[in-house]
Amino acid sequence: MPGKSKKRAVRSFLQVANWKMNKTIREAHEFIKQFMQVHTSSNQAIWFAVPFTDIRSVHDIVQGNFEVGAQNMNDATSGAYTGEIAAQMLLEAGATFVIVGHSERRKYFHEDDAFINRKVLRALESSLKPILCIGETYDEREDKATEAVLEKQLSEGLKGVSSEQIGTCIIAYEPVWAIGTGKTATPEIVEETHASIRNILEKLYDAEVAKEVCLLYGGSVSAVSAQVLSKTPGVDGFLIGTASLDPESFAKIIALSENDLAI
Ligand code: PGA
Repeated sequence: MPGKSKKRAVRSFLQVANWKMNKTIREAHEFIKQFMQVHTSSNQAIWFAVPFTDIRSVHDIVQGNFEVGAQNMNDATSGAYTGEIAAQMLLEAGATFVIVGHSERRKYFHEDDAFINRKVLRALESSLKPILCIGETYDEREDKATEAVLEKQLSEGLKGVSSEQIGTCIIAYEPVWAIGTGKTATPEIVEETHASIRNILEKLYDAEVAKEVCLLYGGSVSAVSAQVLSKTPGVDGFLIGTASLDPESFAKIIALSENDLAI
């Protein structure tokens, strides 16, 4: 039966807001209040990746198609890791998912693929849906190394993830040169790169997994680019930073992505 055991975590178009290190509890409440006023009803799944301190309070005020998650976690279950946070802590705070391997974590905190892989496995074991971020730098794209970079990030990041578990994972393609720069990747680049990610997944798993995995695009998604990118073949949702900080622009991206998912 196609997709029976490997059914993906999310079937509808998925919009993930990545607030990064923004919004106090008070600001998060204010955002949700304003967002609910401008957000029109939608079949899309809307997830908020918020700072740790906001998880519980945002979880308590959103309902329906909304889920709340974290932007990072440690792979250890507990112990002497000052400043770190464990999967179980996130779960009990109300998180259902966690972003893993964001390029800012890779760059500023020197996270490597092996560490990221341990986090993916721990998230799965703890019933948190991991959003594994991958993406090439500008120089890597110029050097025509994009596919090799993505293949390494995927094969190492997903090591030990079974074909049953992969259905619970979400992959976010975020070209580093497009993050926070205002330079969205063109629909052609997104389509081509998403296709090559699915080819890599087919080599790592099989054709069914490659087709079924929920694959997001992230990198300067805005109300301007959302409409065309949401219709781009192979795109199952967005991971949105800057434009998700403003309730109106986030709601607009969601509205412009209506009638979507070509799978
Ligand atoms: P951006 O961030 O939308 O501001 O480019 C995306 C991300 O880093 O997830």
